[in-house]
Amino acid sequence: MTKLWGGRFTKSAEEWVDAFGASIPFDKELVEEDITGSLAHVKMLAACDIITDEEAKTITQGLKTLLQKADKNELEYSVQNEDIHLNIEKFLTDEIGPVGGKLHTGRSRNDQVATDMHLYLRKHTNEIMELVKQMQEALLGQAEQHVETIIPGYTHLQRAQPVSFAHHLMAYFWMLERDYTRLEDSLKRLNISPLGAGALAGTTFPIDRHYTAELLEFDGIYENSLDAVSDRDFILEFMSASSMIMMHLSRLAEEFILWSSQEFQFIELDDTFATGSSIMPQKKNPDMAELIRGKTGRVYGNLFSLLTLLKGLPLAYNKDMQEDKEGMFDTVTTVKGSVKIFTGMIETMKVNTGVMEKETHSDFSNATELADYLASKGMPFREAHEVVGKLVLLCIQKDIYLLDLSMKDYKQASDLFEEDIYEVLKPSTVVKRRNSAGGTGFEQVKKAIELGQEKVKQK
Ligand code: ARG
Repeated sequence: MTKLWGGRFTKSAEEWVDAFGASIPFDKELVEEDITGSLAHVKMLAACDIITDEEAKTITQGLKTLLQKADKNELEYSVQNEDIHLNIEKFLTDEIGPVGGKLHTGRSRNDQVATDMHLYLRKHTNEIMELVKQMQEALLGQAEQHVETIIPGYTHLQRAQPVSFAHHLMAYFWMLERDYTRLEDSLKRLNISPLGAGALAGTTFPIDRHYTAELLEFDGIYENSLDAVSDRDFILEFMSASSMIMMHLSRLAEEFILWSSQEFQFIELDDTFATGSSIMPQKKNPDMAELIRGKTGRVYGNLFSLLTLLKGLPLAYNKDMQEDKEGMFDTVTTVKGSVKIFTGMIETMKVNTGVMEKETHSDFSNATELADYLASKGMPFREAHEVVGKLVLLCIQKDIYLLDLSMKDYKQASDLFEEDIYEVLKPSTVVKRRNSAGGTGFEQVKKAIELGQEKVKQK
């Protein structure tokens, strides 16, 4: 079969070589964007009198027919036609005859493929932003119900100070808020049209790049034709924002995995998001959370493979760049799937408030309160620290916690202790009193949730 670019060749490549060079097995994903870009291009060609209105009409109709066929999965792509662009051009000439060959006037596959990918990523960035927003709403939903649910807070994965469960969940809300705004911000740089840059140097035809940009709803055009066809920083930026989303998800995934273990029992995942074991009947595994944690690796990998691919590449287009697509598609699919699954997991999880409550009474995470108590009554903090340390030791010897110590024990340790320490030591008091801005005090948490709701409403 002769190639669309076969003019200067005397011999055709063998099929297996064609197969190695082809991108159609994966870039067929861009079919809609490719035809959309062509529709704008052909409209501009007619408006600039580069082709006749009649020709433009025929080409447009042909492209629209192809769009419908693509929709119904009726296009049979061939590896001989290398990539999505040449496949579509071939379908077009089959459909409308030689006039189809005029579509490629004043354009190259180099600006075409860049345009396709800009359109593709714009669409999916917006969709991912919507999914991130839904996950934020799920976090808000649980947070609203658990302002006064208290869990042990950890540093070094050791019990540190108790916190509101809502506060813990809201920490992820704010991480996602930054992820959302990172994607939103990337759109400023992404939404620029490379179309009309030609192969690398522009074109001799009197094209109107601003017109195609407008038709495709881009905010502007790449100012330099070499840059337009050569850089893939718009994909890198997306992949980097995606890596951070996955990093955040992987941390919450890890917490869900811990929390749903026998050792913690803080939450129970809904059956939809858990699986059983083929051999151990008692098992309920947090597979989805584990998978999200695992998939984070491939999203990082995609970022690194594209960074490595581009390193040291001379301008302008190089075939290496055909390798930019699979990682991009994979990142889109992985991030979308992960965020969606996580939203469902959050919405449906059962929160074992009883266990959480019990756990906050079974540790020494209120010891700081006791030292602060003495210090606020005038004892130097160092000394207070020592007194409380001894009380903790006493508790350990008696196998009890600070709230279980008798008033007599307290008085013996220091005269400054009064009956009100039992109130001070309660986990709920400990949390309530941390009312500094952004702290876990209930008032602060309520405020943060309201602010979060505002943010989401503005989206
Ligand atoms: N399939 C190619 C890619 O994805 C399209 C651009 C090809 N350009 C070229 N001059 N061979 O990168």
